[in-house]
Amino acid sequence: MEIKNICCIGAGYVGGPTMAIIAQKCPSINVTVVDINEKRIAAWNDEDLSKLPVYEPGLDKVVADARGRNLFFSTEVDKAIDKADMVFISVNTPTKTYGKGKGMAADLKYIELCARQIARVATTDKIVVEKSTLPVRTASAIKSILDNTGNGSNAKFQILSNPEFLAEGTAVTDLLDPDRVLIGGDTSTEEGKEAIQALVSVYANWVPQNQILTTNVWSSELSKLTANAFLAQRVSSINSLSELCEKTEADVDEVARAIGMDSRIGPKFLKSSVGFGGSCFQKDILNLVYIAKSYGLVEVADYWEQVIIMNDHQKRRFAHNIISTLFNTVSGKKIAFLGWAFKKDTNDTRESAAIYVADELLNEQSNISAYDPKVQAEQMYADLDYLNTRSSEENRNGLTAFDNAYDACKDAHAIAVLTEWDEFTTYDWQKIYDGMQKPAFLFDGRDVLDTKKLEEIGFVCYTIGKGM
Ligand code: NAD
Ligand code: UGA
Repeated sequence: MEIKNICCIGAGYVGGPTMAIIAQKCPSINVTVVDINEKRIAAWNDEDLSKLPVYEPGLDKVVADARGRNLFFSTEVDKAIDKADMVFISVNTPTKTYGKGKGMAADLKYIELCARQIARVATTDKIVVEKSTLPVRTASAIKSILDNTGNGSNAKFQILSNPEFLAEGTAVTDLLDPDRVLIGGDTSTEEGKEAIQALVSVYANWVPQNQILTTNVWSSELSKLTANAFLAQRVSSINSLSELCEKTEADVDEVARAIGMDSRIGPKFLKSSVGFGGSCFQKDILNLVYIAKSYGLVEVADYWEQVIIMNDHQKRRFAHNIISTLFNTVSGKKIAFLGWAFKKDTNDTRESAAIYVADELLNEQSNISAYDPKVQAEQMYADLDYLNTRSSEENRNGLTAFDNAYDACKDAHAIAVLTEWDEFTTYDWQKIYDGMQKPAFLFDGRDVLDTKKLEEIGFVCYTIGKGM
């Protein structure tokens, strides 16, 4: 079966870049990305490519190549669904904030709405692809909705799981050259196998066949949660040791290097930090913990929950270290934040460590001045407001955003580096030092700065896993 029209529901950090690459690499397939968020769709269609709603290095060029040719962004969801042979569901699956499973389970309401909408409008057969990250066994719920809530047409549905492994900030290269593409489907029927092959053929336009892995649906769904849990576990593991390093004069980078050269351990994802952020690690592990609990697997649940507990500790520890170093009070003191995004090269701030560190410092009545090359003031306020710790007005009084680092650092008692943006290494640090209160403290939560040089200037520096 040859795919001619693809619809993707959800024009976010995954739907946008993923579909842009499919369109670029498969000129014979028409790809329409739809969303109910009109502002987001308008931004995807903006002539000015610097206004795309997702900042990813190289994405503007990919969109420029394909948009209007075989890549379209639209709010006409029904129309795009009905025209498509293959419908990707790439909507958000956040942690539930209410009811049963609150704070742990994935909220599947958007997924269910998509399934119902597909069933309602489909007049021809469709392959429905789970691109969102979902609890294992969600495909059975989607199938039940698709098979039982139809519009009377004879449309038949096959469900595939095709989780996305891209990381933000490197989405374009990850999509162009993925370690693997994972496709789960119903391997027990001919129709199921055909559907799997149809999606394999799409990816085969640019991904070598031996890197396209096919499995049953449940393995595919569970592998995505497992991959994120393993990745986050590595970060929490090295972060747990960063605290021990600070007590013992071991250097966390030297330890990471020493263990990473063991080919069984490997060197990647061992960078100690102020804590992992991002929209998925925490939510997916909490979801895994919830699933394990719901099967009565208490030890399994506790084992993975520890990854989150460690991460929360790392963020809090960083903030408390700032407070104790600044003579046990930050009240009324200006603390400059360099970076707000959860990692470099993205404008995404979801679950960023910066938000939680700011929250702790605002509790101690400090004045935060923040600068991030890709994050605006309104996003920072929205992130703080979301925590519900204090009123929106208090957040606005407590934090001021700047459009450059020099102004943000002027008169500050301390600088905290929360994101590893490359540009931070290029600053005139003498100039920054001259404008600060003394002693001029610097807390590098990302180990990006050359602290030896900064100490020669006069800064008092702390680096995660290395101490003062
Ligand atoms: P996102 O919030 O950026 O985008 C989701 C979009 O879906 C939003 O624009 C929203 O308006 C839209 N939407 C929701 N319900 C809709 C509906 N009924 N009809 C039309 N549009 C609807 O989310 P994201 O970061 O792109 O993540 C999407 C999924 O991919 C999640 O399950 C996430 O876990 C997974 N994932 C994310 C990443 C990542 O790096 N962000 C990587 C791999 C997997
Ligand atoms: C992560 C995974 O890497 C992707 O494979 C996955 O598709 C995605 O989650 C998802 O499902 O959403 P992402 O969150 O975009 O991607 O970014 P990462 O590079 O994994 O970084 C996550 C967080 O961990 C960041 O805050 C980063 O700074 C931190 N991190 C990462 C460290 O502190 N140390 C490291 O060594 C690596």
